[in-house]
Amino acid sequence: MTREQTPRTLSPRYRIRKLTLADLSAVKALLVQSKTSPSSFCPTVDSGNQTIIAYQQYHAVDYLVRHAIKSNMSFGVFDTEYKYRYSSSIKTGGKLHWDENDIRASSKQLLHQIDFPLVSIALSHDAANPPDEDKVQWYLDIRPGYKQACAHLESLIPASARDGYRYALLGKVLMRKGSVTRGDYEGRGIMKGLALWLVWESKRCGYEVIEIPVSSAAVRRVWENLPPPCKVDVMAEYVIEDLEVCDERGKMERPFEGIQTEICQLRINL
Ligand SMILES: CC(C)(COP(=O)(O)OP(=O)(O)OC[C@H]1O[C@@H](n2cnc3c(N)ncnc32)[C@H](O)[C@@H]1OP(=O)(O)O)[C@@H](O)C(=O)NCCC(=O)NCCS
Repeated sequence: MTREQTPRTLSPRYRIRKLTLADLSAVKALLVQSKTSPSSFCPTVDSGNQTIIAYQQYHAVDYLVRHAIKSNMSFGVFDTEYKYRYSSSIKTGGKLHWDENDIRASSKQLLHQIDFPLVSIALSHDAANPPDEDKVQWYLDIRPGYKQACAHLESLIPASARDGYRYALLGKVLMRKGSVTRGDYEGRGIMKGLALWLVWESKRCGYEVIEIPVSSAAVRRVWENLPPPCKVDVMAEYVIEDLEVCDERGKMERPFEGIQTEICQLRINL
């Protein structure tokens, strides 16, 4: 589906459309910048210069974002009243103005320099066409805490949890990965509007199930309260501070003590 749409829950100012490779730079930048923001748990589990991490991840996430865009089920919300901050962005319909030598740029400055009308994204891939795990490692290795948190969530999902669902068949199970609304557009219901749109569009395309890992209370609230007939299963959940790992001496330790972010994997039966 390529035509632009606005679901009823979003102001007509915003348009939803399928992402294309022309959006690659904007999507990558929004995705990695969001992990430097105070509304993400990432800076709490991966300390260090968040700006350097964002620049590194911008390059490392290239494969993953291309894969999601090519999956044909990744969508973005565009602000039709967006005002460009830099005149040089106008000609190209948006431009990324990061200077990767500027390692002191704040999270806010990084956001300011992402000068595109794209304000929110929801990336997905088909469960039957997952990304190549080896090609994703570079991106994950840059944020070891985040990687550990994601791996632990997956390890909590019982082996039998996916029995009876058609994960191996194209067009049946959608794996949602990556929800971001840019910081200066948060709290306007944009992520929610896009989520409701995706549910509708997925059903229209014949999908039976959406699976989504969630690390934000706002995202969880939306996906756990979808209108009927959607039904939600919590496949696994934990609080980051409860994650236990074995240290070099074989002693169990909790490296993220004090971090109370809840992480869960939800399955929505559409
Ligand atoms: C999380 C994020 C995507 C939210 O985007 P957003 O566009 O601001 O979200 P919305 O405005 O659509 O959220 C609306 C819903 O979230 C709820 N919400 C907001 N903050 C909440 C909180 N702290 N706890 C519970 N619900 C919350 C709102 O009440 C609203 O639900 P309602 O209409 O049923 O009342 C955005 O803040 C972001 O990109 N953060 C950084 C990256 C990240 O954490 N991504 C999520 C990974 S799972």
